Order: sequence, then structure tokens, then C-alpha cells
Amino acid sequence: MNDLIGFFDSGVGGISVLHETRRLLPSENFLFYGDNLNAPYGPRPLDEIRALSASGIGRLLARDVKALVIACNTATSAYAEIIRAQRPDLPIVGMEPALKPAHFALHGGQVIVLATDATLRLEKFERLMALYGNDVICVVGEGLVELVESGKAQSPEAEAQLKRLLSPYARLQIDAIVLGCTHFPFLRAPIQRMFPSAKLFDGREGTAQRLKYLLEAQGLRSDDSPGSVEYQSSGGEESMALMRALMAALD
Ligand code: DGL
Repeated sequence: MNDLIGFFDSGVGGISVLHETRRLLPSENFLFYGDNLNAPYGPRPLDEIRALSASGIGRLLARDVKALVIACNTATSAYAEIIRAQRPDLPIVGMEPALKPAHFALHGGQVIVLATDATLRLEKFERLMALYGNDVICVVGEGLVELVESGKAQSPEAEAQLKRLLSPYARLQIDAIVLGCTHFPFLRAPIQRMFPSAKLFDGREGTAQRLKYLLEAQGLRSDDSPGSVEYQSSGGEESMALMRALMAALD
């Protein structure tokens, strides 16, 4: 079953998830589509995020993918239920901020959830907060997606923006930080420097494991030939070059 597995993100963030997935499933063939032209999705109203997600995911479905990963917390919150209802036949893996494992890592301090505006305001997150929301500080990662999208994840600008957003909490006991947007693993190093004793959580490994489980359960694993990645982007060649560079940076 060597058909493609579709990966969708508003931009390059999903590359962080694809990288982890390739490690776990090296013989699969992936088609990654990033809607870089329209990123960030986070500040947009729900109906716009839904329309953009429908169009981007539609491009992947047109290639007859055997499974779909919505490698974007924002698009998952806005659109996963809709596409699951439309395509009950298709294995679909979505993402949500890794609040549950972070909650269990608490030892007297607090958890920071750093995510997009939409992820934090939509109903899916409200449900998660009802279960694991004690001692949680939610921070909108304003400006961070734009920095990663412009290839500035490792820049003084990114460091300065993280300081603006997170320094109000620097004196608190922060046990865990949830990177609730797939762009943010590219900012791990400066975040960890600001909170050296906090454990960082993200959904990459859980997503890869879930995909593996679904493929195996449905007999959809590819054979043992080496896998591949095809990149596509609404942002053109420049965005695809950034995708390749970020993938290589994680090796
Ligand atoms: N990478 C996306 C996420 O995980 C969203 C970024 C955005 O477009 O705002 O939420």
C-alpha cells in the first residue's frame, strides 16, 4: 500500500511533525502541503480558517491519499470534525496542545500553553481545559508564526518576541510548557533557555504514533522500500525551499 500520506499545515510548522513521522515510518511516501501564502491562520475568524483548511486539504484529497495528518493545531480545532464527517473512510490524525501529559508533569508549579489565538479560543481547547486546565497559563504566540514563516526562527527578533510574550512568567515556577502550535518546536532552544527547568511538550510524537497505529490497524502500511517526501506550497518555490531547510535542520 505505497500510496501517499497527506500532511497539511497553514505553512511550514507541520514540517516539525513530518520530520518526527518520517523517523517512525521511514518507508512511507508523504505529500506535504503548506498554505504559506495564507499563514498565519491563528488570528483569522473561524469561517476563514475553515475555508482555507478545506481548500488546502482538498488538494491532498485530490491526490487520493491513503491517510491524512492535519499537522496544525489551528486547522484541527476549526476543521477536523467537518472533514472526519465527510470522509469517514479515511484515517485522519489531528493535533491538539499536549496539555494532558504536561498536566501530569506538574509538581507544584504551573503549565504555560503557547498556541495560536484560534486554538486557544475555539471549543476543542475549552474541552481540554475542562479536564486538565488547573494551574494553566494560556499565552497567544503573537508574531511567532510569522517569524518562523520568514525563516527567522533562530534570530534575535524571535528571541526578543519570545521575551516580550513570556518574560511576565519568568519568576513563577513553571514546570511545563506546551508548544501548542506546530511552528513552535522550531523555537524550542530559546524557550528552554528562558525556562531552563521547565519540561517542554508538543504533539509530534503522539501524532506520529497515532498515524502508525491507524495505518497498521487498517493494513495500510507501505512495503519496505525507502519512502519519499513531496512538498507543495501556495507560497511557491521560496516556501518549499524553507520547508526543505527546516526538515534538514531537524536531522
Ligand atoms: N501551525 C499551526 C498550528 O499548529 C498554525 C499556525 C498559524 O497559521 O497560525 O496551530
